[in-house]
Amino acid sequence: MSDIAEQTPVLRAEGFSKKLGGRRILDQVSLSVNRGEMKVLIGPSGAGKSTFLQCLNYLIVPDEGDMWLNGERVTPSKKQELYALRERVGMIFQDFNLFDHLTAQENVSIALTRVKKMTRRDAALRAVSELERVGLARRGALYPAELSGGQKQRVAIARALAMDPEVILLDEPTSALDPELVGEVLAVIRELARGGMTMVMATHQMEFARALATEILFMEHGAIIERGAPAALLAQGANTRTQAFFARLVAEEGAC
Ligand SMILES: Nc1ncnc2c1ncn2[C@@H]1O[C@H](COP(=O)(O)OP(=O)(O)O)[C@@H](O)[C@H]1O
Ligand SMILES: [Mg+2]
Repeated sequence: MSDIAEQTPVLRAEGFSKKLGGRRILDQVSLSVNRGEMKVLIGPSGAGKSTFLQCLNYLIVPDEGDMWLNGERVTPSKKQELYALRERVGMIFQDFNLFDHLTAQENVSIALTRVKKMTRRDAALRAVSELERVGLARRGALYPAELSGGQKQRVAIARALAMDPEVILLDEPTSALDPELVGEVLAVIRELARGGMTMVMATHQMEFARALATEILFMEHGAIIERGAPAALLAQGANTRTQAFFARLVAEEGAC
């Protein structure tokens, strides 16, 4: 029987560092995610969470760091290799990044025709089924301006799923949403987790992280300073940095 420790991680990143404007934004950050795991990045604003996630699909090129996808070393240098990497590593942004001039369905299908070279008909069928998966079966003809924030983010998730990524990176996917819309997006992400999707997610949704994270990674000043299973990091009396951060978030929510 294969032991968990012997699995080849879907994504493995070792020693990622990045300087921007003369400042060290990331300092030797490493991460390994096995199939079906959800790793959650938490930490204060400015900790480097977005920078790290963007380095993982080379939207930002790290100064140092090695990466493997399903055991295969990834060193994108040419444009084509970058595109190939971004097919394999999906990305969900805080502010959706949809094309405003395209309908929901076209937002999902465009990369299928352009990148995956699917026929328009096959791409449209796939887009319909992905929109259905995120609960937007009847919204395909609408433009982003006609959708709520929660619906826009679900279109963005459908778009990522349509590419059949090996792993999806989510950068605070609910932070730009009105509070009443957060739940519908978290519900979709929860379903993906249950379905075995491999994910890395930066979030301030600590209850969600506690319930679904395989591991929580606490980041500060560009480094991961604490990591562990939610139960261990958040246990009563554990007295961890993660727990203190969690308590502060809960207090801030209460003060709103
Ligand atoms: N292009 C840039 N030039 C200089 N500093 C940057 C740039 N982008 C981000 N930073 C800085 O990097 C740090 C980490 O930012 P970020 O990765 O967005 O953190 P987080 O997502 O955890 O809030 C912040 O201090 C931010 O000001
Ligand atoms: Mg960020």
